[in-house]
Amino acid sequence: MRVLGIETTCDETAAAVVQLNPGGAGEILSNEVMSQIAEHAAYGGVVPEIAARAHIEVLDRLVARALYDAKVKLADLDGIAAAAGPGLIGGVIVGLTTAKALALASRKPFIAVNHLEAHALTARLTDGVEFPYLLLLVSGGHTQLVAVKGVGDYLRLGSTVDDAVGEAFDKVAKMLGLPYPGGPEVERMAAKGDPTRFDFPRPMQGRAKPDFSLSGLKTAVRLAAQRIHSPSQTDVADLCASFQAAIVDMMIDRSRAGLRLFRERIGDCNAMVVAGGVGANGAIRRALSRFCGESGLRLILPPPQLCTDNGAMIAWAGIERLSLGLVDDMTFAARPRWPLDSNAEAAHHGKA
Ligand code: KG4
Ligand code: ZN
Repeated sequence: MRVLGIETTCDETAAAVVQLNPGGAGEILSNEVMSQIAEHAAYGGVVPEIAARAHIEVLDRLVARALYDAKVKLADLDGIAAAAGPGLIGGVIVGLTTAKALALASRKPFIAVNHLEAHALTARLTDGVEFPYLLLLVSGGHTQLVAVKGVGDYLRLGSTVDDAVGEAFDKVAKMLGLPYPGGPEVERMAAKGDPTRFDFPRPMQGRAKPDFSLSGLKTAVRLAAQRIHSPSQTDVADLCASFQAAIVDMMIDRSRAGLRLFRERIGDCNAMVVAGGVGANGAIRRALSRFCGESGLRLILPPPQLCTDNGAMIAWAGIERLSLGLVDDMTFAARPRWPLDSNAEAAHHGKA
């Protein structure tokens, strides 16, 4: 089984072909990603209108390249999948319409994929992990802990009540004069700084419900930065290190609460899986690996290019759904808000 996956929900245009091999393992035949970071950098965040136009400009060529790299033609595919949300509506419509047109023209099944579900299932493509497992999704738009029980079967254990973790990294970077996207810059500066110089708050520490909150921490960093007149490189490094230390403590404390709730509600947990761009942070990866070691839990950290937005995860989610006979028709509309867990209120996914 081979599926083409299209991703256009945010600032990455992506197309990929993934194949399901006999035995159940997935194989990425091609994985094309074009980032729009340069187009948005001047604004310090993603501008929806610019994003939608940029997707239109490159998507057809990207799809052609994904097919070419995979050495397949449309006729060799078994389905065409696109992320139908959640995300920025203009971009979502571009990917969804393209996928529907290709499916109609080639008479192949069309699969509308939830972008969050695609992140959630990536660990089954990379590591073949069995259900159920605990997912920590941390990106620029999403911060949640989810119990992944099966395809289409999710329980959201907790999420952020304000900003996403990646968004907090980006905002802190901006207030300290570092370029966008801020996460890698803050991490680079933090490596040179003193994490104990500023005693920043660890919001939600000790709470049983595994929710996150970033706004108090972000304000504390702003106030500390304002108290220093013209901060030196050392000051900026110390601010970054102290901020990152607070984030790391918070992530571990919230993951601990998430694991406890998982074991209470669901039972045995097969693994902890990390997804989203923030999962590329070395300090967070090291802390999670220590935490999982202590908790007797297998940790799955997909490679960074599969943690951030990509087409392979959409194609794989398409394969998982198609294998269960889950296909969609041409009336499927873009869903800018589309929570993974339909019992939880709409997921937070605002971006700058
Ligand atoms: O998953 P992603 O590529 O895009 C979406 O948000 O959908 O995540 C991007 C986010 C940005 O906020 C970026 O600052 C953050 O991930 N990020 C990092 C690191 N690399 C990327 N945050 C902390 N440390 C990093 N090394
Ligand atoms: Zn994403």
